[in-house]
Amino acid sequence: MDLPDTIDACTRLLAPRVAGTSVTLESNIQADFPRIIADQTRLKQIIINLLSNGVKFTEQGSVTVEAEFDTETGIVIRVRDTGIGIAEEDIEHAFSMFGQVDSALSRKFEGTGLGLPLSRSMAHLHGGDLVLQSELGKDTCAIITLPAERIIHP
Ligand SMILES: Nc1ncnc2c1ncn2[C@@H]1O[C@H](COP(=O)(O)OP(=O)(O)O)[C@@H](O)[C@H]1O
Ligand SMILES: [Mg+2]
Repeated sequence: MDLPDTIDACTRLLAPRVAGTSVTLESNIQADFPRIIADQTRLKQIIINLLSNGVKFTEQGSVTVEAEFDTETGIVIRVRDTGIGIAEEDIEHAFSMFGQVDSALSRKFEGTGLGLPLSRSMAHLHGGDLVLQSELGKDTCAIITLPAERIIHP
């Protein structure tokens, strides 16, 4: 599959949600990105889930998706936002089925609490992983890693 194309499709899908708001949606993809062996539909679902969270929990600032590859260490996709953040001790709960951080800040947001656990399972099925790095009130970064064996060498 073509990862840059897939990321473009995801940002185009989410663009209407930030149109006319104080949030920008950007992508930053390493040049000459090789094709990769992965389930395009599943990767699209993961990226849309993470971008939706970024957009949902950010009132002002930016949501950015980045993709890098390294033939030794593999593929890294990062979805960053400048939103409400999530406390370190709540991250595990956020990854549990139906788990939502029940703070006054996030209670007003809709959703089912399934996006993160399903996305992480799909990353695991690819031999990869999904982790969240954040602090309450700070930027949030969701990091998907995929093994180097998934890079197709030209
Ligand atoms: N980018 C983010 N910034 C702040 N909190 C987040 C972010 N992404 C996820 N969370 C927290 O993790 C919870 C679970 O996320 P998710 O599984 O995608 O479910 P949902 O989006 O349906 O609430 C969210 O309800 C929220 O509390
Ligand atoms: Mg979600």
